[in-house]
Amino acid sequence: MSPADPTADALPRLYTDLADWYHLLTSPEDAREEAAFFLQQMTEALRATPRSVLDLGSGGGNLAWHYKREIPSVTLTDLSSQMLAASQRVNPELEHIQGDMRAVRLDRLFDAVLVHDAVCYLTTEDDLRAAMATAFVHCRPGGVAIFAPDSVRENFSESLESDGHDEPGRKLRYMMWTWDPDPSDATCVVDFSYLLHEEGRPMCTIYDRHVEGLFSRETWLRLLEGVGFGPTTVVPLIHSDVEPGTVELFVALKA
Ligand SMILES: C[S@@+](CC[C@H](N)C(=O)[O-])C[C@H]1O[C@@H](n2cnc3c(N)ncnc32)[C@H](O)[C@@H]1O
Repeated sequence: MSPADPTADALPRLYTDLADWYHLLTSPEDAREEAAFFLQQMTEALRATPRSVLDLGSGGGNLAWHYKREIPSVTLTDLSSQMLAASQRVNPELEHIQGDMRAVRLDRLFDAVLVHDAVCYLTTEDDLRAAMATAFVHCRPGGVAIFAPDSVRENFSESLESDGHDEPGRKLRYMMWTWDPDPSDATCVVDFSYLLHEEGRPMCTIYDRHVEGLFSRETWLRLLEGVGFGPTTVVPLIHSDVEPGTVELFVALKA
């Protein structure tokens, strides 16, 4: 991806020039419970632990850092070269490939395809359909694809979260405000402010807007069926930090 690539330019700063700070915003350890839940869903759908997983939009590789212990072959893909570099630091033994989930073609089949929160960055039905088609062509017959958007239209609610981490010489704290300026369209926004603290330097504050897709459950199911998946089960995420019923995954089987 060249710096002139318009797709790369469209990514939030967290995934480009600030990607080196990503694991101070959310660390691999933070993903333990969610990774276990996704692995359980893949295993139940396949009736066996997957032997191979393709992760589309793998970001910092936080989920993979956990599930890789159970899965012999893991391939991580992301649009951002800087995020792939961040993931490589914590998952040096895994295969990393730069690619857009709407278009990447690896000419290989996997037991399971995982499309976690990166799918939120698709803001049109055409883009969402294209990512589903990517998952479909990489899923073996009898395989499973899991799509895990942060919200669907029906369970969206405004929220505010703050957290952060320390490492020697650097600290990050953030505030993340998720809200919907226009409930009649298929997007919401996540406004971040980051406080970056580096030893010996003045505190730096950065504002970063993430525009995310927000589609109805019916839209998700219709598009998944349209690209060939079926049946698809809507599964509520069970997680100690998540109110039951507020986040759901689409577990889509390929016949
Ligand atoms: C929140 S991070 C993903 C974190 C990941 N679930 C983890 O376990 O660390 C979101 C990622 O989506 C990626 N992304 C956004 N649009 C994408 C696209 N069209 N194709 C591939 N990756 C994309 C960003 O570059 C970013 O790395």
